[in-house]
Amino acid sequence: MSHLEFGSGVPGCATDGVWLTCIECGETFDPFAAVRYTCDDCGGLLEVRYADLPTWGDFGGRGVWRYADALPFEVGVTLPEGDTPLHEVPRLEEGVGVDRLRIKHEGMNPTGSFKDRGMTVGVRVAERVGVDRLACASTGNTSAALAAYGARAGLETLVLLPQGKVAAGKVAQASLHGAHILEVDGNFDTCLDIVQDLAARGEAYLLNSLNPFRLEGQKTIGLEILEQFRREEGAYPDRVVLPVGNAGNTAALYKCFRELVDDVETRATAIRIGNPVNAPKALPGIRETDGTAVAVSDDAITRAQRDLAEEGVGVEPASAASVAGLRKLREEGVVDTDERVVCLTTGHLLKDPDAAVEAGAEPDPVPGSTGGVLDHLA
Ligand code: F0G
Repeated sequence: MSHLEFGSGVPGCATDGVWLTCIECGETFDPFAAVRYTCDDCGGLLEVRYADLPTWGDFGGRGVWRYADALPFEVGVTLPEGDTPLHEVPRLEEGVGVDRLRIKHEGMNPTGSFKDRGMTVGVRVAERVGVDRLACASTGNTSAALAAYGARAGLETLVLLPQGKVAAGKVAQASLHGAHILEVDGNFDTCLDIVQDLAARGEAYLLNSLNPFRLEGQKTIGLEILEQFRREEGAYPDRVVLPVGNAGNTAALYKCFRELVDDVETRATAIRIGNPVNAPKALPGIRETDGTAVAVSDDAITRAQRDLAEEGVGVEPASAASVAGLRKLREEGVVDTDERVVCLTTGHLLKDPDAAVEAGAEPDPVPGSTGGVLDHLA
């Protein structure tokens, strides 16, 4: 029996002023009548479109669903998510040498990464189309988020992880939230190929960032950044710097700025692009915002992770890539001293305890007495 069974969608027409458009050929599709992740005609990536979008600044409520008017539902499967802090980091700001530096810490979401913003929408769509098994390929954070949101919705969750390459905290989350974890003999790309095949055969509903609905939730990061930054600094940031894997988040931020924010000119600076599946959506964003992409070394990432930790902000290595990238762009003169910058940190320190222990200080062994401790401190 197929694991995909369709619910209440109306074939052939847009539902509630929401539809899907192919970014390559422009073909449109009803968003909930059938499950599809790419264009039936040309295979291009799909994007969610709306008949009406709210006026910028016209939002009420909290977290991701504060922006419900710019999303496909009034409310999602929520834990709840969003409303993450925009930290001041005065020493790092001075060290890097920019006018303003703020850290948007997405590690403060319910499962410790920005993926929660996408899952609150994506798992709601899964409920709406009436599927009974969710799946993703993951380097860890997507699987942790899917496991938690799948559990919340009472749906079966399947996650494919590259064997031996996922940080301990992330596997622990997927495991305890009850996901069926498959450790694949291969890398992330192998996992993604398999899960796409499973989805195409109707065995599961795909919740990787190829799923256009996930990016709708993630675009709320951009809205929060602009609202918070303007409230606290009296202006918009000049630049947003973020780590890139599949470039889903880069595409999501660009979509947010394009759809909702007329009077802002913010540059998206993306780092670490390998072979990202969302490149056709993300690259125009980098180009059209006058942004750039740069690669950073593991050593530079560890240094940035320590710098953030010294200001009390605990992030996982991939997250620190944004700060490492900013430092490099500053040194190369691409970013100027008078710029206002927001770096996105995408995951929490505890996601990867082994990396944190390695980047941090060794504990000192001491005897079990006050005298022994005092001797040691002297
Ligand atoms: N930062 C962190 C901490 C991530 O886990 C990811 C992606 C990214 C950045 C990149 O985001 O793909 O939207 O460009 N992690 C995926 C996962 C691959 O499976 O958890 P992107």
